[in-house]
Amino acid sequence: MQGKKIIITGANAGIGKETAEVLAARGAHVTMACRDIRRGEDARAEILTRIPYARLDVAQCDLASLASVHAFAQTYREKHGYLYALINNAAVVTVKRESTEDGFEKMLGVNHIGHFYLTTKLLPLLNGKDNARVITLSSGAYKWGAIDFADPNLETFGIWKGYARSKLANVLFTTELARRLKASFVNAVSVHPGVTSTQIGVNRDTGVGQTIHDILRPLLKTAREGAQTSIHLASTRELVNGGYYYEGGKRQALKRPAMDPTLAKELWAWTEMEIGRRGFLNKNR
Ligand SMILES: NC(=O)c1ccc[n+]([C@@H]2O[C@H](COP(=O)([O-])OP(=O)(O)OC[C@H]3O[C@@H](n4cnc5c(N)ncnc54)[C@H](OP(=O)(O)O)[C@@H]3O)[C@@H](O)[C@H]2O)c1
Repeated sequence: MQGKKIIITGANAGIGKETAEVLAARGAHVTMACRDIRRGEDARAEILTRIPYARLDVAQCDLASLASVHAFAQTYREKHGYLYALINNAAVVTVKRESTEDGFEKMLGVNHIGHFYLTTKLLPLLNGKDNARVITLSSGAYKWGAIDFADPNLETFGIWKGYARSKLANVLFTTELARRLKASFVNAVSVHPGVTSTQIGVNRDTGVGQTIHDILRPLLKTAREGAQTSIHLASTRELVNGGYYYEGGKRQALKRPAMDPTLAKELWAWTEMEIGRRGFLNKNR
């Protein structure tokens, strides 16, 4: 991994932080793309106490804001000539209906749309000859997801409904991205990390959700264990473009409703249209 440039979204906590630590320990130059720069710096400082030679940058990237994603990607492109791996790791779970800065329902907006926009902005830096790859964290929850273009804002809100929808979108995004990248030899893959003890679903301001996590912790993977599939996919040469991976690097066939290339194309077109409507599609500066 020596010197390989990797971006990890949501690298200040949970699976993302563990992934950043292990890849930096192996010599990668990791950019931790975090919504809160202070939390990002704290995580970087903590990792450096264990891995003093780690090459870690922290940069602000709030996936709930297309402007923030745009600014991050633009700065990264100007500063770095290439990218070896983009790890779309961040995610949010909201307990009530919330919106992003651009008016998207928040779980879809952060987990799918923010990553969609980030990926398309960074694609010119990914080169198939360098074995470049896009790794997107989904979840087994995708199987319970549904894409309803008639209710994009999730007016009939449900926590699980919104999260599962966003995780289905992650898999469908990977399917269509893989198809589009085929000729370039850049690989796009998705991940189910397994049920892992992290801060997912815990409100960062109020701590709501922490108690249930504390009760369940003994039954769950540790964050380091949950990071193993992402770490493997960032490190291996043996990737199957469009593959869905779990358990540290095993590949699993997609199940309904994700095995639908037409839906994947429709979601791509819809996402592009919605980003375009907000004036970000061909925005350069
Ligand atoms: N844990 C599990 O059991 C499990 C199971 C299946 C799939 N996954 C997937 O694994 C991935 C990592 O989750 P995790 O369990 O490690 O969760 P986590 O501990 O909650 O970490 C999530 C990360 O995403 C960041 N994030 C949230 N909103 C953001 C935004 N608007 N912009 C940028 N970053 C944002 C968080 O930043 P802050 O700290 O600033 O909030 C945090 O760094 C997610 O994609 C999740 O869906 C997890």
